[in-house]
Amino acid sequence: MMDLDSAARDILAGNDRGGYTVPNGRVYPFQWNWDSAFVALGFDRFDRDRAWTEIETLFSAQWADGFLPHIVFWQDDPGYFPGPSVWGTGKQPVTSGITQPPVAASVVRRLWENAVEAGEGDAYRGRLEALFPKLAAWHFWFRDHRDPDRNGVVVAMHPWETGRDNSPEWDAPGEAIDVSQVGDYVRRDTSHLDAKMRPTKLEYDRYLALVQYGRAQGWDHARISAGNPFRVADVGMSMILLRANRDLAALAEMLGREAEAAELRALVARAEAGIGWLWDGDKACWCSRDLITGRSSGFITSASFLSFYAGLKHSERDAAMLGHFDRIGRMVSYLMPSLDPGDPGFQMIRYWRGPVWAVVNYMIGTGLAEAGEADRAERVRSDTRALIARNGFYEAFSPVDGTGSGGDDFSWTAAIWLAWN
Ligand code: GLC
Repeated sequence: MMDLDSAARDILAGNDRGGYTVPNGRVYPFQWNWDSAFVALGFDRFDRDRAWTEIETLFSAQWADGFLPHIVFWQDDPGYFPGPSVWGTGKQPVTSGITQPPVAASVVRRLWENAVEAGEGDAYRGRLEALFPKLAAWHFWFRDHRDPDRNGVVVAMHPWETGRDNSPEWDAPGEAIDVSQVGDYVRRDTSHLDAKMRPTKLEYDRYLALVQYGRAQGWDHARISAGNPFRVADVGMSMILLRANRDLAALAEMLGREAEAAELRALVARAEAGIGWLWDGDKACWCSRDLITGRSSGFITSASFLSFYAGLKHSERDAAMLGHFDRIGRMVSYLMPSLDPGDPGFQMIRYWRGPVWAVVNYMIGTGLAEAGEADRAERVRSDTRALIARNGFYEAFSPVDGTGSGGDDFSWTAAIWLAWN
């Protein structure tokens, strides 16, 4: 395993652009929000200072209202579309206008606890104190702009915000998006990678129509939240934010920031009371739900299994989720496919419609271990390690035969290898 450890460190070093890390040099040549959070966990295994810097660089692109963008374009690169000029957010540094799953607070708590354990708490406390208000501002931004019904869910305004770009959960809600005015454009992703692994043209048209909509609103998030043609409560982001609010509340208490701690605990309580809206009784599963139509997606995805990571405890629902886990576990060689393999739309190499993602597995496995499901947690962890050891540090993997899909030498895959051993 030593060789793989050093290969993983080499990938992080090779993708390091000085203070931030690109997910993959060719396909994703900028800083991505949740990628950087996971990448910090990897750096933390061999360079604590660099791990904290990754998060600090990301937050240096935060907007004044607390919003944290999904991409920071530290320098332009013609190899990616849509680049800074398409987003037109007018910010400095140049950023996109949508966000991504808020894992950063949970990562910072981990980094902090690792520092304390290593006897370096004093050296890092000032950095934690500086990051805390930024993390809190981002969480309060979600409260103010993305939870219109005050039930503790996260409403995504763009499939890219969910981090699970082409999940079938966005198909039906996406039909409401008018793509007739999108115009011509040249995709760059399909010049780097086989189109069979990527979202379709229709999906891309919708992605761009939503970017154009946000731009037409001047990236005013109040206006976007009120009128966006796509508004979907994402089960993944909702579970991740619930977890992150718990972690940030713990940090607030430790730092003696009582006012924020109380507010964060209130957000946790709100989500615990309200997130049941995402339970789909027919499927007996946690599913995303379209805010506009009120309809559940009905799709069982890898994000459904993040309820354990969120710290939800509900004996009947947990039992139902473990039933899905075991059923899917018998159907594939490697957990956790991004879409239920029993679904007719399952495709083993098409991005978020089948492939396994190491970062999602890391969260699922962490949650299962915390819930006392040690055997199932270990299955997810050992499947993840086997996928990487046998195939390489790919962006994603086929759950059926382990084939790597998407980009290679992928930063967050390398980071998870290092952090989850
Ligand atoms: C893709 C993934 C997203 C990730 C990004 C950079 O868009 O779907 O989750 O953050 O690539 O790796």
